[in-house]
Amino acid sequence: MPQHFLGLAGMSRRIPDYAWFKYSSFHKKYINNKSFSGSWYFIRIHSGRFYINNINTNDINRINDVAEPWQLSFQDGASPSFDGIVDLHDQIMFYLVIIVIGVSWMLGTIILKFNTKTNPIVYKYFTHGTVIELIWTVTPALVLVAIAFPSFRLLYLMDEVIDPAITVKAVGSQWFWSYEYSDYISDSGEPIAFDSFMVPEADLEEGQFRLLEVDNRVVLPVDTHVRFILTGSDVIHSFAIPALGLKLDAIPGRLNQTSTFINREGLFYGQCSEICGVNHGFMPIVIEAVSLEKYMAWLNEQLS
Ligand code: CUA
Repeated sequence: MPQHFLGLAGMSRRIPDYAWFKYSSFHKKYINNKSFSGSWYFIRIHSGRFYINNINTNDINRINDVAEPWQLSFQDGASPSFDGIVDLHDQIMFYLVIIVIGVSWMLGTIILKFNTKTNPIVYKYFTHGTVIELIWTVTPALVLVAIAFPSFRLLYLMDEVIDPAITVKAVGSQWFWSYEYSDYISDSGEPIAFDSFMVPEADLEEGQFRLLEVDNRVVLPVDTHVRFILTGSDVIHSFAIPALGLKLDAIPGRLNQTSTFINREGLFYGQCSEICGVNHGFMPIVIEAVSLEKYMAWLNEQLS
């Protein structure tokens, strides 16, 4: 399947080294607010000790869309596809709660009222119940149909690549990602292309995320239709960014395409999501979503 999106709920929860609080909500509350300036103090708990840290605006901009310690449910979404995934999840949860209550009630009733202690001879008279059998066959079928329609709708909407303005080719290799922006060509005729490796633990700076930070980020503008072309150079990898609702396999010998539309600035972290060898856990993806002006400046820098 093109996007096994329910798997996104289980994405990485491994940043215990930096127990910062609520970056993304902080980001939305203060950074998007233009009156914000100066530095902020944070209390940090690490190995049972309290630390007080002072971080500046740049740091907060850098630390946002990542899983939080003890997080339940999804990361904050930043694309229409992800909003669709969350809506579908909520819709399915509605049926799930009703089913759990219904089945528990039935099981409870059977255990309490129809056991051999309280009702020793009930099994003698209990053989068939045509009506109840019809109900418990037809109802689940209707529930499945009710779930199938919104699910297929979302699946086909996410599959659609709408007239992309930018195409980025991402190639998975053991164990790093390479990116190519072939829409732009430098004076020497070369496209923008670079490799992106994980920052090893020893080189991390204060506030950076272990196993998630990379040396070269994928810079993209917000409010733009972006297409990703994915492939692998050796084995199957998978390109996944939870906050954007992206997850697609990068398969050698074949090109997969997917698209996104990032609707706010920020840093979006993802990881390879197909077991691809010993360093599978060490080939993260970082997307830096910036304004169009900043993106143009970045392009200029890359092309010169
Ligand atoms: Cu590449 Cu897992």
